[in-house]
Amino acid sequence: NIIPVIMAGGSGSRLWPLSRDSFPKQFLSIDGSGSSMLENTLDRLHSESISNPIVICNESHRFIVAEQLRKKNKLEQNIILEPSGRNTAPAVALAALHCLKTSNGNDPLMLVLAADHVILKEDIFLDAVMMGTKYAADKHLVTFGIVPDSPETGYGYIKSGMAKGDNVFEIERFIEKPNRISAECYLNEGGYYWNSGMFLFQASSYLNELKEYRPDIYDCCLKAYETSNNDSDFLRVGCDEFLHCPAESIDYAVMEKTKNGLVIPMSVGWSDVGSWSSLWDIQDKDEHNNVRHGDVITLNSNNNYIFSSNALVTTIGVENLVIVQTEDAVLVAEQSNVQRVKDIVNTLKINE
Ligand code: GDD
Ligand code: MG
Repeated sequence: NIIPVIMAGGSGSRLWPLSRDSFPKQFLSIDGSGSSMLENTLDRLHSESISNPIVICNESHRFIVAEQLRKKNKLEQNIILEPSGRNTAPAVALAALHCLKTSNGNDPLMLVLAADHVILKEDIFLDAVMMGTKYAADKHLVTFGIVPDSPETGYGYIKSGMAKGDNVFEIERFIEKPNRISAECYLNEGGYYWNSGMFLFQASSYLNELKEYRPDIYDCCLKAYETSNNDSDFLRVGCDEFLHCPAESIDYAVMEKTKNGLVIPMSVGWSDVGSWSSLWDIQDKDEHNNVRHGDVITLNSNNNYIFSSNALVTTIGVENLVIVQTEDAVLVAEQSNVQRVKDIVNTLKINE
């Protein structure tokens, strides 16, 4: 059996003003379906060989997560709480320790997932996961590769090596978030995949690699886990111990360094919804190429992403804009500038 581990501790600042610290994007419905990204992630795991998930998130979001798990009938003491995020390497370590402890001496397979990804072709995705199980059971750290179509710098890049099986390759190099020039080189050179940010491995495989490459993180997580306490639906890890843990992502801490990595390329309509323009890319458009949510009227306007929460939003003669209206804030940005929404959020934090 595979245990999904859903990482849900990110702040999602690039989808401000809809996504807020108190209610980040993974808990919101951003596609108008009424289901949150976390709920969609839960729904995606419909296979008999996949058991109930573990969700790991920030203390302050515990009731949102519990509610969304309950709604899907998947709440059963399976939420791990971090007092404050230390990025994904520690989060996955806590989940791995928990998987080992609760599996009666077994060393279960963990399917590590982000709570904020869109996957359009769920069956193909599940096929790729099932294909990976044999390799993960053989101590490999399996990644899922996406064929890149632009030199994005927000992703990890995986250079595939020798074939290990049908559509399974060794990892020759893993480069987390390269600069623009390197990303362009990788694209021209070919043979590179984006890291989708999802992983499949045995709990002990991950912990052994972490112990080898980042013993400092491993030690802090072990202490934090050993001093954790159960509070009905929640497992709270030892606060002081965890706060001492260095903050690092699984990609830098383990995946760039491990020699046991494999990549399974897949075409599943994947998006990590990293910005408003990536939402424009994947959502349904009107006859003028506008994506519209809520009460919106456009005249002579093309290629815009317009989201209204609770007011009428109207546009005349504008192009390539992102307009997002919420109860207490409005964003108007050129699509080409949407990555800088993060800077606005930082400015707001400084002025707080
Ligand atoms: N519990 C917990 N604690 N979850 C966290 C934390 C944390 O401290 N930090 C981030 N997460 C969650 C986020 O909510 C998200 O679901 C997932 O972990 C990945 O974190 P991101 O911060 O979104 O990572 P990224 O997008 O910059 O990079 C990763 O994903 C890319 C694909 O989307 C890397 O794995 C890249 O290599 C990859 O290409
Ligand atoms: Mg992300």
